[in-house]
Amino acid sequence: MEEKLENIEAEAKAAIKEATDLDGLEELRVKYLGKKGQVTEILQGIGDLEPEQRPVVGKLGNQIKSRLEALIEDKEEELKELLKQKKLEEEQIDVTLPGVKEGYGYQHPLTQTLAEIKEVFLGLGFSIAEGPEVEKDYYNFEALNIPKTHPARDMQDSFYISADILLRTHTSPVQIRTMKQSEVPIRIIAPGRVYRVDEVDANHSPVFHQVEGLMVGQDISFSQLKGILIEFAQEMFGADREVRFRPSYFPFTEPSAEVDVSCIVCAGEGCRVCSQTGWLEILGSGMVHPRVLEMSGLDPQEVSGFAFGMGVERIAMLKYGITDIRLFYENDMRFLEQF
Ligand code: PHE
Repeated sequence: MEEKLENIEAEAKAAIKEATDLDGLEELRVKYLGKKGQVTEILQGIGDLEPEQRPVVGKLGNQIKSRLEALIEDKEEELKELLKQKKLEEEQIDVTLPGVKEGYGYQHPLTQTLAEIKEVFLGLGFSIAEGPEVEKDYYNFEALNIPKTHPARDMQDSFYISADILLRTHTSPVQIRTMKQSEVPIRIIAPGRVYRVDEVDANHSPVFHQVEGLMVGQDISFSQLKGILIEFAQEMFGADREVRFRPSYFPFTEPSAEVDVSCIVCAGEGCRVCSQTGWLEILGSGMVHPRVLEMSGLDPQEVSGFAFGMGVERIAMLKYGITDIRLFYENDMRFLEQF
């Protein structure tokens, strides 16, 4: 019996030494010292032994029991310490590391460009008007003297919502709404989104932004139109820019002119940006057509006016040398951070 006990102890000692986690150690405790553990069972069976054997086995059994208990306790401490070390290592925080910086926000280049455009015209005494993006065909086309045969009226070019409602294709309908609603003299700009059925490419987007301008009063002349737009072009693109007015055609203005500035890249020499012409077109303009004044409830004998319209994307592209309109809508931080 004593030999058996000694064998159990040797086996238990080796197993405890090998234990790698607390669960395994507990299993060993149960196996040897638990209620039905090997050592416990021997101690409980002492009564069945020869009388002279009992004290010897009892003593040895108890000694082994306490030695194993002590061993298990030490091992438990050791394993707990190991666990703690491991956890500490995993959760290590280096308080000397620099923090993660929050990124700065940037104003979108279109927002900046629009703000600059507004600033120039507010400085010239214009105020800001607005109109709906979902517009009546009447305001978008009819009242602007755009004939039924005009290509813009085609389903292929405009987003129609119903037979007489569409997404406005330009900000010019705000001219009509403003003339109908307000008293002369009128001096407004109307910024906003416009929509056209276009394939997306470097120069086209089905949604883009325009700024409309309208000045109506007594004796408003083409020379005033020129004065205001030259002022605008030079404030926007630099005082040394040359500005030219090129005869053009719009159904709602007569006469009409497109405005060019000398190329901001080559200053008129001719380069890739200006297609070797030395000029960049920045807007369309003209004297409000008498028919348009009439349809807006004004008497062309008494008042006259001029109007202009420009694309905000185009102005921003020319100003900042951006060659692809899609960059405005992709919100790539690497692009936005540059402004
Ligand atoms: N609405 C015209 C366009 O979208 C621009 C324009 C506005 C021209 C006002 C003349 C007067 O092309």
